[in-house]
Amino acid sequence: MSVQYSAVKWNRNKRIYDFTLMAGILLYLGLFFLVGKLAWPGSPGISDEALLIRALGTCAFLLLHLVLCIGPLARFDSRFLPLLYNRRHLGVATFLVGLFHGVLATGYYHAFGRLNPLVSLLSTNTHFNSLTAFPFEILGVLALLILFLLAATSHDFWQKNLSPSVWKGLHMLVYPAYGLLVLHVTLGALHAEDNWLYAVLVGLGLTTVVSLHLAAGWRERLRDRRQVAPEVAFDGEHWFDIGSVDEIPNNRAKVVCLDGCERVAVFRYGGRISAVTNVCAHQRGPLGEGKFVDGCITCPWHGWQYLPENGQSPPPFQERIATFRIRVKNRRVFLDPRPLPPGTPVQPACIEEPAHEPVITSST
Ligand code: HEM
Ligand code: FES
Repeated sequence: MSVQYSAVKWNRNKRIYDFTLMAGILLYLGLFFLVGKLAWPGSPGISDEALLIRALGTCAFLLLHLVLCIGPLARFDSRFLPLLYNRRHLGVATFLVGLFHGVLATGYYHAFGRLNPLVSLLSTNTHFNSLTAFPFEILGVLALLILFLLAATSHDFWQKNLSPSVWKGLHMLVYPAYGLLVLHVTLGALHAEDNWLYAVLVGLGLTTVVSLHLAAGWRERLRDRRQVAPEVAFDGEHWFDIGSVDEIPNNRAKVVCLDGCERVAVFRYGGRISAVTNVCAHQRGPLGEGKFVDGCITCPWHGWQYLPENGQSPPPFQERIATFRIRVKNRRVFLDPRPLPPGTPVQPACIEEPAHEPVITSST
């Protein structure tokens, strides 16, 4: 979180992330070039420019796979969370490497005719009804435009001004962009003779992306079903029985699923229980999978924080999330399913903790 607008709030982690990313990209390009030179030696081997175009194209495509796989991987194993933390940098790098590939390809294949290279790129091949001669480059251009839109609006400034839901909807365009690129590479490979290797690799990548998303979605559905809380009448109102206090680890949450599958994170901290929506106001990260840091619920994705008793970010921040009423009776926790307006203070329910229970500690 940052109080004021600044292009990028650099810190040690971000520097290490970006340095590793750049080193990885350069290493990949260098290795691709070396192996390419050995695989297609001498005349009529491949030109340096064509090899660079391929190196950049495959590198951007690989980065996009990484961008798409990090989300589901982080749901399976929290060790992937550091990669998720700065995923936007990965997205911007994907766009830049893709841009170099597109510009070089346009210059190399379209700059030597009478037409302007861009006009030539968009107008010379019109075989839209042929599979083997389809103008696959146009699909790359469309994908690149989407990647540009995503990279240009990746900063929190846009997320805040467009609203989290519009921003999220916009960034879902990464999936159509991926689809366009799968077609770009597959149809492009049909133009070439050595197309089988690209087809196999694209198939492998697509299978990985789809199966990881399906597996993560399936796991989430199963978890939601297990976490549906039973409804009970409580003082003439409909509440939900969340379970025993002892099921909630200290300084952590239990996530429960209400009607319509709204997820609520019920936190236990320092002898108190509070409930807030499970959805972070930033990019809808799963708050219930976060920890307590400095007395605040801290989102596991990018570290946005909220006070448990009112769902408000600590001053000077102004973000707010919905809170829920909670009661504890005979060490059972009951939740009123009606969300209160974001930032509404709610008295935490008190529980008796064993004498040795640790106090909330701060960590970074
Ligand atoms: C202006 C946009 C683009 C143009 C004009 C373009 C053009 C091309 C061309 C001409 C090829 C065939 C190269 C060859 O066989 O030597 C190609 C292949 C490829 N492109 Fe693109 N492309 C664009 C955007 C993209 C983007 C954004 C990505 C990935 C993020 C991408 C990934 C690939 C890949 C993986 C291949 C197969 C490897 C290769 O042969 O280079 N392209 N593209
Ligand atoms: S989703 Fe980014 S901090 Fe929660």
